[in-house]
Amino acid sequence: MTGSSDAFAVTTHGLRKAYGHTVALDGLDLAVPRGVIYGFLGPNGAGKTTTIRCLLGLIHPDAGTMGLLGRPYTAHDRRRLFDVGALIESPSFYPYLSGRDNLRVIASTGPAVAAGRIDALLELMALQDRGGDKVSGYSLGMKQRLGIAAALLNDPHLLVLDEPANGLDPAGIHELRNALRRLVEETDRTIVVSSHILPEVQQLADVVGIIDQGKLVHQGSLEQLLSTSGAVRIRVTPAEVEPARAILATLPGADPVADGEGWITIRAKPETAGDVNRALAQAGIYASGLETGSDLEAIFLSLTGGPNA
Ligand SMILES: Nc1ncnc2c1ncn2[C@@H]1O[C@H](COP(=O)(O)OP(=O)(O)O)[C@@H](O)[C@H]1O
Ligand SMILES: [Mg+2]
Repeated sequence: MTGSSDAFAVTTHGLRKAYGHTVALDGLDLAVPRGVIYGFLGPNGAGKTTTIRCLLGLIHPDAGTMGLLGRPYTAHDRRRLFDVGALIESPSFYPYLSGRDNLRVIASTGPAVAAGRIDALLELMALQDRGGDKVSGYSLGMKQRLGIAAALLNDPHLLVLDEPANGLDPAGIHELRNALRRLVEETDRTIVVSSHILPEVQQLADVVGIIDQGKLVHQGSLEQLLSTSGAVRIRVTPAEVEPARAILATLPGADPVADGEGWITIRAKPETAGDVNRALAQAGIYASGLETGSDLEAIFLSLTGGPNA
């Protein structure tokens, strides 16, 4: 622990934002280390987009502080946003222009872009062979990667992508993953990628922050999350869900969550599954299924209280 905020690309402290009576951010504390891909995870409605909009200066938080690239960030500081590239909704392009020409048009509206930059970005995003083709013929994944190329035109230190994998097929996600990996490996850049689908992020992110109802529920390296937490899933009959949950709730730190289909997930080391089963059996509840694992999806569900919270 150096205590230096320079180690972080993004920090938020006590960030709050309400829309009328809806509290979107409820005292959010984030710390995104520099030079990593940070998976910003949470179920729909958790507050991810609201956080990103605050970081980009598109909306103003009601309370709390933010730091960008080691310095406090305030509304008076908008020039600093040139350090940040963002993709917050599906990008719109001129469909009848090529990808390369779209980037030229976007580049012409901002600070001067170095010669060769556009071709380098097309290559980085694996679009070099299609850069001359009309965008109308691009797949969704190609459009997303062209959007990321556009966000990188000014060579920002921080790239923020809000649900970039939304709607992509597995091949599209794979391409996106490769492109983002190249970006952090070739440069000292930090990428924040939000998602509500954990497996999307699982193979991509170095560090994850999981939020739920506007609050941070876990932050750390994926390795650490997997080593310190495990999950045990137990299947019981519908009538047994409530009594089983009551028993499981007495196990330390278990925090049982029922999925509505007879499965209950608890936080517990896989090697304690036998104890879990015994505790249920002693109460006359015999599980019809039992799964263990350091399965991030199960951990995610137990941290955030269900798949559709
Ligand atoms: N413009 C808005 N007006 C009213 N409520 C909003 C608005 N934007 C978001 N919300 C609410 O704030 C909460 C957080 O939303 P959001 O930040 O979009 O979450 P996420 O991106 O994680 O799905 C949700 O309850 C959502 O309904
Ligand atoms: Mg969102």
